[in-house]
Amino acid sequence: MATPGEEDTLLAEAVRRLRAGELVAFPTETVYGLGADAANPRAVARIFAAKGRPASDPLIVHVLGLADLEGWAAEVPAVACRLAEAFWPGPLTLVLPRGPRVPDIVAAGLDSVALRAPSHPVARALLAATGGPIAAPSANPFGRTSPTTAAHVLADLGGRIDLLLDGGPARLGLESTVVDCRTLPPRVLRPGGVTLEALRERVPGILAPGQDAPDPPDSGGPDAEAPPRSPGLLARHYAPRARLILVQGPPEAQREALAAGGEALLRRGLALGLLVAEEDGAVLATALPGAQVLTLGPRAADEVLAAGLFAALRALDALGVAIILAADFGEAGLALAIRDRLQRAAEGRLVLARPGETRSTIAAILSAATEPS
Ligand code: TXA
Ligand code: MG
Repeated sequence: MATPGEEDTLLAEAVRRLRAGELVAFPTETVYGLGADAANPRAVARIFAAKGRPASDPLIVHVLGLADLEGWAAEVPAVACRLAEAFWPGPLTLVLPRGPRVPDIVAAGLDSVALRAPSHPVARALLAATGGPIAAPSANPFGRTSPTTAAHVLADLGGRIDLLLDGGPARLGLESTVVDCRTLPPRVLRPGGVTLEALRERVPGILAPGQDAPDPPDSGGPDAEAPPRSPGLLARHYAPRARLILVQGPPEAQREALAAGGEALLRRGLALGLLVAEEDGAVLATALPGAQVLTLGPRAADEVLAAGLFAALRALDALGVAIILAADFGEAGLALAIRDRLQRAAEGRLVLARPGETRSTIAAILSAATEPS
């Protein structure tokens, strides 16, 4: 732990490096970010190189608050102000019309820009001392699990970053909620640290990811266009090295499926990990000797589940499992974002457990575990 004096020195060093076009990894309340001076295209190019991130995937520009958007957003619609006033600083990213100061590379050539004011004191101190916005994606190699500790960043990107500020484990453990504010109603592009329920308390009509927009009053029928998506929302993302299978359905049926499917996988000699709610941990560990059973927390404790999710996926990788059977935690509160990350980590390997249909569920799990990817 750095003493206050050392912290000041580190902060000054971070500012110096950002101004010199270097990369500084820093903590936020969601996950660790890999930062560069947002106004410096060459510095930002180094982020893409360090992560192996395709140039088509735009970055989030981090600011201290609404007062910093001048030149970065071309316009701040009233609904965006409302959301920022409610949730900034915090885990909410607003997609707005792009302002003239946003370099092409930051926005991946789009005419929009993603902006967020983080609440973590180290992130805020860095922004205040730098005096300008910081472009930062999560500090992980593209497509892999996001880092929630400084150790994760070092393990993933050590050697590719110029400085790492350690702010302890990220409080939330899941990335920010991304909301496109350029349309009315606004649309959630990525579920995250601000829940849909909380957003709808402020803006009732806000659209969930993938939800159809209501028909405008004068239209003859449903909009034929697919809902807009975030360029970075790939089917494969947040992936551990092990092959992850997401088991969905009523909790009771999930537990049966995890036990029966797990047994079938162990019989085939596969190194197996399970990621489940605390309620099911003991039963499954007993039913599946030889499997690595990790519990995230009580099913209803969405904040606990979220905070441990990415670290648990990394822990299962470290244990050397080949297959991860993950439970589904529903969609209330932060569980919606957990489901989103697990679905992407599963790359489409979703198994729906139905009560009393254990045989077909086992078959589905076995084929998901063994089919060529
Ligand atoms: O919590 C977070 O958001 C963390 C911390 C570091 O702030 N950052 C983060 O960044 O998760 P990243 O790059 O891993 O994810 C940013 C997401 C991507 O899905 C990207 O496609 C989307 O935001 N995004 C960025 N600019 C966008 C834009 N103009 N329009 C739509 N989506 C955008
Ligand atoms: Mg990311």
